Amino acid sequence: MSKTTVDAPANIAFIKYWGAKDLDRALPLNTSISMTLESCCTRCTAELLDSGHADEVWISEPDGGFRRPPHEFEDRVRAHLDRMRRWAGRQETFRIATRNSFPSAAGLASSASGFAALTLATAGALGKDDVPTDELARLARESGSGSASRSVLGGFVEWPAIDAERSHGVELAEADHWDLRDVIAVVEIGPKAVSSLEGHRRAHTSPYLPKRLEILPERIDRVRRAIAERDLALLGPAIEEEAVDLHIIAMSSHPPIFYWSPGTVGVLRAVRELRQEGVHAYATIDAGANVHVICEAEAEDDVASRLESLPVVGFVIRDSVGPGPERTSPHLF
Ligand code: PMV
Repeated sequence: MSKTTVDAPANIAFIKYWGAKDLDRALPLNTSISMTLESCCTRCTAELLDSGHADEVWISEPDGGFRRPPHEFEDRVRAHLDRMRRWAGRQETFRIATRNSFPSAAGLASSASGFAALTLATAGALGKDDVPTDELARLARESGSGSASRSVLGGFVEWPAIDAERSHGVELAEADHWDLRDVIAVVEIGPKAVSSLEGHRRAHTSPYLPKRLEILPERIDRVRRAIAERDLALLGPAIEEEAVDLHIIAMSSHPPIFYWSPGTVGVLRAVRELRQEGVHAYATIDAGANVHVICEAEAEDDVASRLESLPVVGFVIRDSVGPGPERTSPHLF
């Protein structure tokens, strides 16, 4: 039967999706902007099964073995398979396997790459190869992991907070527009204590959310302009303010969410010191403790060796801006 394999990358948000108007459909409160990564990605193989089979969902291990995914993840995958069938007007079931290129224990957001890969691989297995990217990005958003919508595209991507039909990732600039690097300091391994889905739910309970939404348009403009002009001195402060704001909302939610660990603060301090020494590097943090340090190519080695020297850092992953998902082989099964 028809089998398709897709590699879809993770992305790091410069302006974060945090809080939804409609969480079931992942319609965001605010526009977000991200850079698609190159190396951190999810490979997904989707195969159509003969009628009479139930959907099968597997995690593929680096040694070639397979295991069942955690319940919550499996339920979300199954719900998305139903959504893809409804969209395509089809009845067939799927055998799915996914594998992350980055250590899954690193606590890095794998849902964006995972649900982007799942959307594209299942669309391919259903023979929907000529579907416009906009439609695939919308379907990826509807997976529930809204940031997956940005991972359907490469380079620099904006996801506007507008009506349901048009709210999906759109390309701002291609990957070769600006050779930015993302040096990821892994300070905590293991899954985060509170999922981003729960974080979106609780965002509405923070008294600071209205203020965030009030100041965001100006920051979004700055990030757009910084990308267009390849201006790291303009981008850097905007992404650092934004990362802190996300965590202010999380920490002031009811009940509060504390994603930072002592290692997070240690890395933020090291990034400030690097700047005092003349190395242009800026930090951003998703819903977790690990820190993404954004810099240009010439600063990458200095940034990586400083972060590796910190006792609070377990390991460092070096990534860069990438061109987006691709059909690939070999299949995972
Ligand atoms: O797409 P979700 O529901 O996994 O939420 C993503 C949340 C952040 O990673 C913190 C921000 C973002 O825009 O990627």
